[in-house]
Amino acid sequence: MRISNHPILGTFEKKQVTITFNGVDYSAYEGESVAAALLANNIRTLRYSDKLKQPRGIYCGIGHCYECRVSVDGEKSVRACITAVKDRMCIQSKSEHGL
Ligand code: FES
Repeated sequence: MRISNHPILGTFEKKQVTITFNGVDYSAYEGESVAAALLANNIRTLRYSDKLKQPRGIYCGIGHCYECRVSVDGEKSVRACITAVKDRMCIQSKSEHGL
């Protein structure tokens, strides 16, 4: 699901890293967004809505809507779509974190 060779931008050099989402390890590429890394691993639900407990994930993808809020390394309400992946990053969905 990732573009590795683009006709205009060329070939991307990527360093593979490991991230953890809700206690499960996944592979990702350093520098891509947390949301993109999780989507590439077939994870579409990042949290559940407060009132109706409906699944929420990427909506705007540019940091405006706050639908993609997760907890990253203990920091609450981090927008997954504009946060870059780092090696051994620990991500928790909002409901899993009890927020
Ligand atoms: S998807 Fe809208 S802020 Fe992340």
